[in-house]
Amino acid sequence: MSKPFLAVIPDFITDDLKPEREILGDIAEVVALGAHSEEDLVGKIDNADVIMLYHDVSLTRRTLQRLVRCRLIVRGGVGIDNIDHRFARERGITVANVPDYGSEEVADTAIAMVLALARGVHLMNSRLRSGDGDWHYHHAVPLVRLRGRVFGVIGLGRIGSAAALRAKALGMDVIFYDPYKPDGYDKALGIRRVESLEELLGQSLVVSVHCPLTEETHHMIGAAAIASMQPRSYLVNTARGGIVDIAAIPDAIASGRLAGAGIDVLEVEPPSADHPLMVAWRDPKHPAHERLIINPHAAFYSEEGLLDIRTKSATACRRALTGLAVRNVVN
Ligand code: NAI
Repeated sequence: MSKPFLAVIPDFITDDLKPEREILGDIAEVVALGAHSEEDLVGKIDNADVIMLYHDVSLTRRTLQRLVRCRLIVRGGVGIDNIDHRFARERGITVANVPDYGSEEVADTAIAMVLALARGVHLMNSRLRSGDGDWHYHHAVPLVRLRGRVFGVIGLGRIGSAAALRAKALGMDVIFYDPYKPDGYDKALGIRRVESLEELLGQSLVVSVHCPLTEETHHMIGAAAIASMQPRSYLVNTARGGIVDIAAIPDAIASGRLAGAGIDVLEVEPPSADHPLMVAWRDPKHPAHERLIINPHAAFYSEEGLLDIRTKSATACRRALTGLAVRNVVN
């Protein structure tokens, strides 16, 4: 029996679609395309009534103008930088996100990267496994005590706040820079606000990036910003690749400006094998080999979180298709 609606999952989810079908199956055909580029969507998405988008493809004007009956695009995640949401609004298509599925996991990953770097865990494990040198902590010298050191949060939203609370639990002195946060969150969380990015970069032993990718934040942390950080500091980015200009990282590690970096997100995912960052990271002779941790945009992931995104995305679609108000509209 044909169903009245078509729900399309363009990318990322390619399994049996059980969570989505449990919620939408009685009213919509649910189809996953497994696309890796916008071209892969041509001819397959135009009749969608609702779309559940992840982060392997972008929906630009090119695709959006072909959608003939779409009511809702729900981004299974927080960042909406891969949808031209303004153009979607012009076309009468609502865009929503799912802000409440993985804040804790992303904050945990940021802290995991900080601890693995700042406690020398990653470096010593890499060295010892390769049989390089003595069975001794000397490999990681000098490591400094984290208690009392400054942990700088860029973007005090859901994830930035969760990271701040975790850093506080480590005894760190937490500061944040977020020009859009109303006053008072410093009091609520027991942390300090700084008024400029420069202040944050200059004071922090650890800089953790938690703002969205926007025109304003694109390459906000590049060579000049890193040069203004403290000597032997740490940079962690679990937000979006485009915020940090990763080309600056290998030299910053080689010069000792950065004692380490943790990167969950890259501007192009997966990166090309000949990107200078990847070359340095793979090269056992480059200091970045053991001082740089790279993950494949995995900070959000836990079994529970992934199920949350899928059921919340499908629930938003059901609400849109049955004429109910949709939550977390971003356009
Ligand atoms: P949120 O919207 O709660 O917080 C973002 C904060 O950044 C807001 O307080 C905002 O005022 C602030 N901000 C905006 N522009 C800024 C600027 N120019 N400078 C400093 N702060 C600025 O978002 P949430 O849920 O905390 O997520 C943060 C980011 O993490 C998302 O935008 C997304 O890109 C990324 N993310 C990454 C995941 C991963 O798997 N690696 C998973 C989920 C989110």
